[in-house]
Amino acid sequence: MIQVIDNNFAIQTKNTTYAFRVLPTGQLEHLYYGTKITLRSADDFGALCEQYAMAPGNTVAYDEKNNISLENIRFELSSYGKGDIREPYIDIKYPDGSRTSDLIFEEAHVLTEKHMYDTLPCSYDDGTFTKMPTQTLKITLKDRSHDVRLELYYSNFLETDVITRQTVLVNETKECIVINRIMSNQIDFEDSGYVFSSFSGAWAREMNRKDTILNGGKIVNSSYTGTSSNRANPFVMISRPGTDEDKGDCYGFNLVYSGNHYECMEISGFNKTRFVQGINPETFEYRVNAGERFEAPEAVMTFSDKGFNGMSHGLHTFVREHIVRGFWKHLNRPVLINSWEACYFDVTERKLLNLARKAKDAGIELFVLDDGWFGTRDDDTTSLGDWIANASKLPGGLEGLSHKIRSLGMNFGIWVEPEMVNEKSHLYKRHPEWVLKNPNTPHSTGRNQMILDLGQQIVRDYMIDSMSEVFSSGEISYVKWDMNRNISDYFSQDENINAGEVAHKYVLGLYDVMKTLSERFPEILFEGCSSGGNRFDLGILSYFPQIWASDNTDPVCRATIQNGLSYGYPQSVIGAHVSASPNHQTLRRTPLNTRFNVASMGLLGYELNLGDLTSEENKAIKDEITLYKALRDTLQWGELYRGRNFDDSEYTEWTIVAPDKSKAVTILIQNQVKPNMPMRKVYIKGLDPARRYTLKNVEQKQNLRDFGDLINNISPVHIKQDSWVYHALDRLKKLDGEKEQISGYGDSFAKAGVFLKQGFAGVGFNDEVAYFQDHCSRMYITETEE
Ligand code: DGJ
Repeated sequence: MIQVIDNNFAIQTKNTTYAFRVLPTGQLEHLYYGTKITLRSADDFGALCEQYAMAPGNTVAYDEKNNISLENIRFELSSYGKGDIREPYIDIKYPDGSRTSDLIFEEAHVLTEKHMYDTLPCSYDDGTFTKMPTQTLKITLKDRSHDVRLELYYSNFLETDVITRQTVLVNETKECIVINRIMSNQIDFEDSGYVFSSFSGAWAREMNRKDTILNGGKIVNSSYTGTSSNRANPFVMISRPGTDEDKGDCYGFNLVYSGNHYECMEISGFNKTRFVQGINPETFEYRVNAGERFEAPEAVMTFSDKGFNGMSHGLHTFVREHIVRGFWKHLNRPVLINSWEACYFDVTERKLLNLARKAKDAGIELFVLDDGWFGTRDDDTTSLGDWIANASKLPGGLEGLSHKIRSLGMNFGIWVEPEMVNEKSHLYKRHPEWVLKNPNTPHSTGRNQMILDLGQQIVRDYMIDSMSEVFSSGEISYVKWDMNRNISDYFSQDENINAGEVAHKYVLGLYDVMKTLSERFPEILFEGCSSGGNRFDLGILSYFPQIWASDNTDPVCRATIQNGLSYGYPQSVIGAHVSASPNHQTLRRTPLNTRFNVASMGLLGYELNLGDLTSEENKAIKDEITLYKALRDTLQWGELYRGRNFDDSEYTEWTIVAPDKSKAVTILIQNQVKPNMPMRKVYIKGLDPARRYTLKNVEQKQNLRDFGDLINNISPVHIKQDSWVYHALDRLKKLDGEKEQISGYGDSFAKAGVFLKQGFAGVGFNDEVAYFQDHCSRMYITETEE
């Protein structure tokens, strides 16, 4: 519900309230964002207002009539020049050279539907999930001295506790103005000492949660990679100290945007906290001509007083229902095999078909041909831009291969990297003017490639045509869309695009291409990718329903990466694969079932040479895929609860509860074992508290070889480690692992937890003891008791 009472406004979601009002001086004062409160009259809003009487000390008094200082007011949006010296929301350069804006309330309307953008992706409400249509509060502000208006749109996704905010600047002057900064969101909190959590990292090390308590100064999370970036995801959290997964006040903020972004939290001299989020203002200088509108990316915000899990649940539903769209929105995602870590660039039809046959036997549903299939692409120095299949690798082209894969009973998918070009390519020779490149300096490459300038219409047209041709060749039902370098040399060879506009125009161009192609090929399942998770954001998810989370497929690293992602994104958008051991990025050896368990928390795929595995391993993979398919509805669409994680524990723990709470799947992963530890336990959160359930583990057989020469403690004759007898015995004899079967009520499983069989502690092993050593894991299935 949206309330408008005189000049007071409240957005009431299911569990939260967001309130603001018009100040006597005309600006918008932020009043409250938090747990739901009752507001029925203007007086009720009055209780939320700070009572300032005069501008203190050397602060700036707003004007002659109003002796108040804008420096100490909580604003919905702010600017420099009239006394507020904190992070501004907007910074516009007017034709007369001045840069002071003062945006004054003009009017408010409640729209009965979600407001949509023309140039950028945004959230939507198609009525399939919401019981009440998403209302939008439109506020119009006008600059006191210039014909510039700002429209703010607050949309209330009531059931998910998410509010979005859109900002549109309208230039009604007769001249061009320049935006130096325009944010998408601003929250002014009345106090300080909040925890700012960002998710940072680098290639193959994405989404590490970093917490900073801020009592003074400012902290910035931003990207200048041209993408939303693995260095600093645009999703951030602000919480009260002491907030944990299940209790405490927590805000989540995100942006529907895939380019350079900026999140800043600043403490003022009056101990207030300001948070702003938007396009990174660094080198941003965007011209808006007379009569034109500029849309700033949509901001997404949520609040929960039920800890990080509470906050994530609202966001997960929001992403599933109001960001992801199209044919695949609610469809189960196929189990896939990807050729990359199995073949790298060395793809030939023979190798691919061998891999496909093995994959089919294992129950895999989709075969994905990754990099290496086009031009003369035998390594990463060449051919990006030349999207024609290599005839010696694929004699029948994509079409021939796709038919052969289809006839094996699997769907066929393909990898592309359309935004890039190698200098060693026909495309670059024909169109050197299509890349981003500074005029009088040598350009920089990344992975030997240059960036096509998506700000240019002619480049976008080419990209749409060439990709349409690829996607129409053969029976392609999946596309992995990669982007493998950061942007540099921010300069367009099109004289109509200024350097300060290049980054944003690139993103607008990308969206134009993605929109056209995803609409032209509605049944293709697109998976976004950017060297793994370098562009994991809500803009990409508005067109592509899933994203490859990281080039790191090591399950121990993945546990941290996927745990980090899960704060802001549901598991139904996270691509996760089982790969070889030792792992190709870390050379770490891990058990196959741990690789499976971790990948099952996302969208399961395989990325290894199945032909090199033992028959025992192939059988285990087949069994795991059968299990995954039986649990797929829950795993992909259930509600995810985080438990402990590797940052503060030896364990990472996730429980995914079926929408009807009939069952839950829990994944428990151990980092490093220590002997003789306290008894192991899992907490099964989110079940129906009053229902009785039974928990069972997915049983594991234990290899003799895992016990090293300890097997001599039970063997009548001495067996030398690594001798042929040792290996023969290991193949013949498997030990039974522990078997768990424990019943109890949902509330007890969540609050008291469930004690598990003792872990191996160096003093003996039988089927009452769990082999739970370094990087071991278990999957537990909890089902309603019959
Ligand atoms: C980076 C991706 O993240 C990998 O999965 C793979 O597709 C390579 N690019 C191919 O070049």
